[in-house]
Amino acid sequence: MSTDQLELSLPGGTWSLGELTVTRFGYGAMQLAGPGVMGPPADREGALAVLRKAAELGITHIDTSGVYGPRVTNELIREALHPYPEELHIVTKVGARRDEQGGWPPARQPAELRRAVREDLETLGVERLDLVNLRLGNAQGPQPGSLAEAFETLVELQQDGVIRHLGVSNATPEQVAEARAIAPIVCVQNAYNLAHRHDDELIDALASDGIAYVPFFPLGGFSPLQSSTLSAVATRSGTTPMSVALAWLLHRAPNILLIPGTSSVEHLTENVAGAATALSADDLAELDRIGRP
Ligand SMILES: NC(=O)c1ccc[n+]([C@@H]2O[C@H](COP(=O)([O-])OP(=O)(O)OC[C@H]3O[C@@H](n4cnc5c(N)ncnc54)[C@H](OP(=O)(O)O)[C@@H]3O)[C@@H](O)[C@H]2O)c1
Repeated sequence: MSTDQLELSLPGGTWSLGELTVTRFGYGAMQLAGPGVMGPPADREGALAVLRKAAELGITHIDTSGVYGPRVTNELIREALHPYPEELHIVTKVGARRDEQGGWPPARQPAELRRAVREDLETLGVERLDLVNLRLGNAQGPQPGSLAEAFETLVELQQDGVIRHLGVSNATPEQVAEARAIAPIVCVQNAYNLAHRHDDELIDALASDGIAYVPFFPLGGFSPLQSSTLSAVATRSGTTPMSVALAWLLHRAPNILLIPGTSSVEHLTENVAGAATALSADDLAELDRIGRP
């Protein structure tokens, strides 16, 4: 499929991650693993069907991580889509591991990062990863502290040829700046949605530098977005609150890439259609006030 066709077929058109073109409407694979993002999905065939549907719809950006399952979402992606179409770009993240309670403790020592990248290469069945995010902070969000040693390890792997592009995730603006002083990054993946707007300034700064901002939890994650304003705009537009939340993100800034998660083909199709919802200037102004103090 050509870039022109992609721009016509998916809301938001495309974005460049370095020399890689991706659809701004992507897909986040985390929800395909079992409960608590541990173990296999209850409906394995259903999970494979979601991934195949994403590719069929023309989505060329899939977000995953070796810690989802662990390994489960990577293995599902490989089973559903390998050999990968040339235009498909799979983004992973390293820097955390899973413990027995299903927690996400940091794993950012050089040896841990090297092992995680090696496992991603194996489980996804590729010789080079298109984009690897260094996942910082913890489950509560970004935490201050230098990323230099960990990020330099990924830069070495990039120089070795097993990673094409780098990004950071769950990062403070200071850590984004620190990474950029070490090596170019093509994206920042942080928690952001209509109701959680801590990164507004960062998004605008990255937009002017041509760096993508990829919000995780675009629909609220484990606590779906709920707001009477959002519901009112959705009713007025004849669509759902989730659709409005996605359409708003595409409007918010040109460098925002969507990776909404779902384990349902129905929701995936609904989200693609919903992200194209037209929002008036009044709708946007009303929605803009949701996350403002
Ligand atoms: N960097 C990080 O630290 C980090 C952290 C978290 C997530 N991520 C990435 O970001 C991606 C997105 O985040 P997320 O999946 O946690 O949260 P999300 O996209 O905000 O929300 C996903 C939830 O919304 C539901 N949903 C999706 N479409 C819906 C619809 N049309 N109607 C009703 N419910 C709908 C899904 O349930 P159904 O399955 O029932 O559709 C799922 O429970 C993840 O998949 C992952 O790749 C990264």
